[in-house]
Amino acid sequence: MENLLEKIISLCRRRGFIWQSSEIYGGFASCYDFGPSGVELKNNIKKAWWKEMVYQEESIVGLDAAILMTPKVWQASGHLTAGFADSLVECKKCHHRFRKDQIEKNECPDCKGELTPEKKFNLMMKTFCGPVEDEAAVTYLRAETCQGIYMNYENVRQSMRLKIPFGIAQIGKAFRNEITPKDFIFRTREFDQMEMEWFCKGREADKWFEYFKNKRMNWYLGLGIKKENLRFREHQKDELAHYAKRAVDIEYRFPFGWKEIEGIHDRTDFDLRNHSKFSGKDLSYFDEETKEKFIPHIIETSAGADRSTLVFLTESYNEIKGGRTTTTESTKEVEVMLRLHQDLAPIKIAILPLVKKEPLIKLAREIYLNFKKYWPVQYDEASSIGRRYRRGDEIGTLFALTVDFESLEDKKVTVRDRDTMKQERIEIDKLTEYFRNKNV
Ligand code: GAP
Repeated sequence: MENLLEKIISLCRRRGFIWQSSEIYGGFASCYDFGPSGVELKNNIKKAWWKEMVYQEESIVGLDAAILMTPKVWQASGHLTAGFADSLVECKKCHHRFRKDQIEKNECPDCKGELTPEKKFNLMMKTFCGPVEDEAAVTYLRAETCQGIYMNYENVRQSMRLKIPFGIAQIGKAFRNEITPKDFIFRTREFDQMEMEWFCKGREADKWFEYFKNKRMNWYLGLGIKKENLRFREHQKDELAHYAKRAVDIEYRFPFGWKEIEGIHDRTDFDLRNHSKFSGKDLSYFDEETKEKFIPHIIETSAGADRSTLVFLTESYNEIKGGRTTTTESTKEVEVMLRLHQDLAPIKIAILPLVKKEPLIKLAREIYLNFKKYWPVQYDEASSIGRRYRRGDEIGTLFALTVDFESLEDKKVTVRDRDTMKQERIEIDKLTEYFRNKNV
């Protein structure tokens, strides 16, 4: 579809999914705010991930660690050294920075100024803890959530009485001073990661790598992403991150090309070994059965919640020329529809009085207020019924429930299914059961 990304951005703005941060001040580059529809969608993605990684696995537990940690963590992890830096050139005149491979001539694309030789620029975001801005108080916003997991590996293992292999999962904010943030929420400076670190024996790492690689791919497929839009890409030796022995990306076919959405990494014993060394605390594990003592290896699955949001928006975006609902004055317009998986749809049910009149409004609002306790629902009474169906389809609302004059007599309402457009008359008293049976 032509200009698909622009169409998605426009839908996101129009229907309360995503806006640029600090918009009334002209915006703040590469930071985004999630509106009422967007926060529901992103939360649903996180919930689906948590369900898959924590609830459906026998030996994975959750964690919510602090964003701020002692800078010693980042020394030990290798993030403060060349390992976590981009090679850039800087314009001597306007000080804009660029990746060398994105520059055609040896002059600044913005002001034609002279460029410096290539230098390494670190991606960590610096901040200060405490009231005095001296070097002693410098720390960093975490660049990956997994470091908080390593910090708590021993706490979790001991308090939960876990035996290797086991995993720790976490969802939270990460920050990177990206040089070239772009493509809407694809690459930003503040984003949510969904990471799982699996602690295992070194000799079993390959087996677990395969297991989690496939599990993660199946998660996207299960939530409705088409097979032809997903692929694995194995990293070449020269592109591996400083901590990884092996890395496979899951890539998605975005409107701007195939791009990484998740990484599966074999981090060896790099992390716990380095944190043992730098902290002086022995993080080795003693296996009671085999009497072996070793530093656990880590298999990591690392996905971005914002990138996933863009994946699900892209995949579910549909345009129908003339629209499917023909009982409206808007028949000549293009109908936009999000065919989101039902677990991800921000709003499950729209409740609509057929016309904006009492006593239909009263009954519809009663149902709405009752349902609101159990589901994300919306009440909509403005404009024609066809237009209201379309408004719901546009944000992926699963069902539209219409209260008409007959409802007052037969105590039934019409339920319309988003995907099939099939309409059924259902007794008001049986609605909860009806939706529960459909796993809403
Ligand atoms: N702990 C390993 C790690 O952080 P990564 O490949 O650097 O690995 C993992 O990042 C995932 O985090 C990416 O696949 C992507 O989904 C997300 N991510 C990374 N940088 C991002 C950015 N600047 N904006 C949005 N998402 C990002």
